Amino acid sequence: MSTLKKTTLALALAGATLATTAQANEVEVLHWWTSGGEARAANVLKELMEAEGYGWQDFAVAGGGGETAMTVLKSRAMSGNPPSAAQIKGPEIQEWGELGLLGDLNGVADAEGWDELLPEVVADIMRHDGKYVAVPVNVHRVNWLWANPEVLEAAGVEMPTTLDELFEAGEAIREAGFVPLAHGGQAWQDATVFESVVLGGQGSEFYQQALVELDPEALGGEQMVAALEDFKRMRELMDEGMSGRDWNVATAMVIEGVAGFQLMGDWAKGEFTAAGLTAGEDYLCAAAPGTEDAFTFNIDSLAMFRVTDDEEREAQEALARLVLEPTFQEAFNLAKGSIPARPDLDMSEFDSCAQQSLADFQRTAEEGGLVPSMAHGMAVRADIQGAIFDVVTNYFNDADMPAEEAAERMVSAAEAASF
Ligand code: BGC
Repeated sequence: MSTLKKTTLALALAGATLATTAQANEVEVLHWWTSGGEARAANVLKELMEAEGYGWQDFAVAGGGGETAMTVLKSRAMSGNPPSAAQIKGPEIQEWGELGLLGDLNGVADAEGWDELLPEVVADIMRHDGKYVAVPVNVHRVNWLWANPEVLEAAGVEMPTTLDELFEAGEAIREAGFVPLAHGGQAWQDATVFESVVLGGQGSEFYQQALVELDPEALGGEQMVAALEDFKRMRELMDEGMSGRDWNVATAMVIEGVAGFQLMGDWAKGEFTAAGLTAGEDYLCAAAPGTEDAFTFNIDSLAMFRVTDDEEREAQEALARLVLEPTFQEAFNLAKGSIPARPDLDMSEFDSCAQQSLADFQRTAEEGGLVPSMAHGMAVRADIQGAIFDVVTNYFNDADMPAEEAAERMVSAAEAASF
């Protein structure tokens, strides 16, 4: 049984009634935006809410990728007092919706014209049973490569555009005395690199079949074996100290010129921005090698829990409205590294990486190549994602596990899901 189903069962057994702990006129918001760039971004929303006279109770649970935050959220829901809003993404929104725990945002959505404002691919994810239950904050792109231009210059290499070029450039960077690829050995970061390698080496159709549709032939087949082998080779580009390292510490290695590259979603850009650096000058961005015609999207969104108190509902609705207003979309996304969730905004304040992200989002949406990020909870339900993470990380850390065995385990991981 999935953890969420267990949560409902526990709620039913306890005869619990849901009550959020937020006071009237305030919102309690669960998120995991605790790095330098992330905290600057989260603060934008807090300030906007406060400026409208609402209280903000910050419920930040540290831990990149949000796994810990989701565990804490489940236990709060199980004890009958979820926060007013939580960063819940992708298919997991449906899981919470099915439990009947989410509130109905259609009133705000109608008044603000969300249907006309949002791209269909974004709006779809925010609705459960035809009703808006969540509001999108941004669109992150996951398949990015970040680089320190001084390190590249010292090693005499350019930004790589294929996986082979990345391995070659990596070797030169190592010889020049730097860490080729900054990485943090945590399951979600391993999965982030893995999905970009699958995409870069095998293309977006294969990515879709394997990591979105969970087709057993793709998951267990030759292309997956090849992708797993490429992925294992990435270890050669990483340093000994990677185990357990947080993603923003890895980004700092690129910022400080200790490392040449990092494969990470564009929340990494939030760290470069917070450090006062300029895109295209002090740091470089490019699509992860081999993925220039693809875009792994990761949409941050705040889902609202059902509340009974009128004033609390009003505060929630204000939050939902503010999130899609231009002021928030611009200020938040400039700090967060992502692009706005609504495509109608003036992008002149955004840097060259964000401009490229928007152009590539639109191009891949039209021409194909726009795929949901598995590593960031956009492609498959949480229990399947967790099972895939286990395989990816165990394989990555086990020098003796053949890629064929990992591919077989992938098939079982997808089947073992309890839905
Ligand atoms: C979230 C981002 C966050 C990143 C690192 C991703 O899953 O979508 O908002 O910055 O994890 O914590």
